[in-house]
Amino acid sequence: MVKRPAVKELPGPKAKEVIDRNFELLAVTTQDPDALPIVIERGEGIMVYDVDGNAFYDFGSGVGVLNVGHAHPGVIDAIKKQAEKFTHFALNDFFYESAVILAQKLVELSPGEFPKKVVYQNSGAEANEVMMKLVKYGTGRKRFIAFYHAFHGRTQAVLSLTASKWIQQERFFPTMPGVEHVPYPNPYRNPWHIDGYADPKELVNRVIEFIEEYVFRHVPPEEVGAIVFEPIQGEGGYVVPPKEFFKELKKLADKYGILLADDEVQMGVGRTGKFWAIEHFDIAPDTIQFGKAIGGGIPLAGVVHRADISFDKPGRHASTFGGNPVAIAAALEVIEIVKELLPHVQEVGNHLHKRLKEFEEEYKVIGDARGLGLAQAVEFVKSRDTKEKNPELRNRVVKEAAKRGLILLGCGDNSLRFIPPLIVTKEEIDVAMEIFEDALKAALK
Ligand SMILES: Cc1ncc(COP(=O)(O)O)c(C=O)c1O
Repeated sequence: MVKRPAVKELPGPKAKEVIDRNFELLAVTTQDPDALPIVIERGEGIMVYDVDGNAFYDFGSGVGVLNVGHAHPGVIDAIKKQAEKFTHFALNDFFYESAVILAQKLVELSPGEFPKKVVYQNSGAEANEVMMKLVKYGTGRKRFIAFYHAFHGRTQAVLSLTASKWIQQERFFPTMPGVEHVPYPNPYRNPWHIDGYADPKELVNRVIEFIEEYVFRHVPPEEVGAIVFEPIQGEGGYVVPPKEFFKELKKLADKYGILLADDEVQMGVGRTGKFWAIEHFDIAPDTIQFGKAIGGGIPLAGVVHRADISFDKPGRHASTFGGNPVAIAAALEVIEIVKELLPHVQEVGNHLHKRLKEFEEEYKVIGDARGLGLAQAVEFVKSRDTKEKNPELRNRVVKEAAKRGLILLGCGDNSLRFIPPLIVTKEEIDVAMEIFEDALKAALK
């Protein structure tokens, strides 16, 4: 029998009390107590239990972190064993073998027949910070190209790459100069109103042309160090670009000696059914930024990069906690679990995608259903003809789903992502789809 979510009251009395104290003492982040008033007590697999005894399906995976599920026994065991030996030794000044073993694995997992190295950090934003330092130092070029709707983190320099929402930028300007944004090849919604599903080539050509004809009109291409991209835009709405896009981008980059910097913080570590999402697109990027899921819930991030752009002298870069031994022990375990799960992710991901496509057929408010593997989303519109966005409906669905025990997260202005732990079963997806449909019906009333 498949375990089902069960919610009595949301938020319950204990949750209310914690949330009130939270807002008294913690700075505002993106918490939304109206939509997701969920105060966790413990997690197990795809389940989350809150402080009032409510049980949920976590179809947000702790915002893309718990790819192996909550409290995976193998990961817990690895963490415990490492914690008993040593919890810290500062990899910037000392050595431990597990850091080398993990680097070897990450290098082997990353496409490209060139020598590679690894830098460890603690968060996705930090990974992108270091990527920019590597590119600047290694190429001598100081400019970057990034995409509209991209999310790469919120630290000061990385904010210059992020072009997701103005709220993230307001009053933080100036960030780092030298970043140009260009449209991402979003098949459903792009500046040229091209149907990118029907005519992917046209969409890809327009984006490449935009870079060459518009950006390179005023930005000397030989000053651009890297084009930074998400292989599937995550916070921007789980947007899957046409298959040929990255090959064309690579041709353009090669023409001008520009590197490709692949931000896999959200889409990596098996989320799409390949270890790195870029593997769906048959190119080898020059850097891969990783984070979120790699440490199985323990902070770990970093950059796999071409050895020829790596730091040459001590002192150019270091991080006290980067490559924490407990996080590395967890990551070594996560990698093995995820490698085993990849065929399963493709199978259940296809199942989830098919179900969401059926909803798209049936409910006119769903303008688009898209995704790869277990990185899936639906986009809500007021009209299919005008594609007018419907964020209000999306927000109501998040709330109604939570009340019924299904944790879903928004993405983009008006989309909803479905990103359960990779261990999710078809049966659990079916239960989640029942709840989603009930929530949608309630939200439409
Ligand atoms: C693609 C991508 N890059 C970077 C980040 C930033 O990661 P962090 O919040 O760990 O700094 C995120 C976070 O959502 C992300 O989705």
